[in-house]
Amino acid sequence: MTDPTIATPDQHLVIRDLRVAPVAHPEAEILQGINLMVGKGEVHAIMGPNGSGKTTLAYALMGHPAYKVTGGEVIWKGRDLLTLSPDKRARLGLFLAFQYPIAISGLSVASFIRSALNAKLQGVDKNTDIDPTDPMRGGITMRDFRNRMREKMALLKMDEGIAARYVNEGFSGGEKKRLEMLQMAVLEPEMAILDETDSGLDIDALRIVAEGVNAMLNPNLGVLLITHYQRLLNYITPDVVHVLAQGRIVKSGGKDLALRLEDEGYGPVLREAGLSPDVPDEALLMPREPGAELQPVEAAR
Ligand SMILES: Nc1ncnc2c1ncn2[C@@H]1O[C@H](COP(=O)(O)OP(=O)(O)OP(=O)(O)O)[C@@H](O)[C@H]1O
Ligand SMILES: [Mg+2]
Repeated sequence: MTDPTIATPDQHLVIRDLRVAPVAHPEAEILQGINLMVGKGEVHAIMGPNGSGKTTLAYALMGHPAYKVTGGEVIWKGRDLLTLSPDKRARLGLFLAFQYPIAISGLSVASFIRSALNAKLQGVDKNTDIDPTDPMRGGITMRDFRNRMREKMALLKMDEGIAARYVNEGFSGGEKKRLEMLQMAVLEPEMAILDETDSGLDIDALRIVAEGVNAMLNPNLGVLLITHYQRLLNYITPDVVHVLAQGRIVKSGGKDLALRLEDEGYGPVLREAGLSPDVPDEALLMPREPGAELQPVEAAR
């Protein structure tokens, strides 16, 4: 499933030997050759120690300006994704739910999501026949937009009052994560990268968000699910679980791999992959439950 040589262009996100460094330190590669193929209709979980490069991968795929791609390629819908602006990537159906969503003062949730939806309606090549602000020319009416927002807020059991508030301003950690999911639900991406969407959620919220994601799953949506917790995978069943460590995918497997990581920590898997045990200290810490204290696990000796 992860053989990047047999890609069907429109159905898979194909990542080949992707190497990424921070713009500020181009010599310090964080990702050192990632190979991954995520098909529509598939859920791939990415687990890995703190600092292993999971968020860097998410940012590089979305085109974050602080990261420089130093090698490799990413193909999506037959296009070289890395040559496109983040805006075009989003118009092509790519979506990132941030690990740390930021607040945008003065911009309401409803305006924000409506602008994004309108922009997306025009498509990647900005079809000028479509004026997304004009319902007569392919735009969504206010009424349809409101109904769609209401439907998705109900799915995620969100208070409707949130639509009038400024984006993430004063939101609790859990509310921020739900807002990421609301954006995803309304925008209906074809490839969604969820960066620790489960972190900071209480147990009930985790279940609601996971049910929301499950309700969004369809044959036209691929998901890259970055998480530290096997618990999330009890709700959202991954097709493949990958372990990212020291900038590479060191092991891929089924759901059992996540269970094994929960039992053993990362040490044994990293040693099997030939990585020296002098991984960053954080790699030896793996929280068992969302919100639980970090517990040292069986350390790589
Ligand atoms: N812009 C940057 N400049 C310098 N170093 C960076 C930059 N971005 C990331 N790094 C470093 O790259 C490594 C990988 O960071 P990244 O955020 O991708 O890890 P992660 O796997 O998402 O970790 P976590 O599980 O804690 O979210 C870290 O050591 C981080 O400090
Ligand atoms: Mg991260």
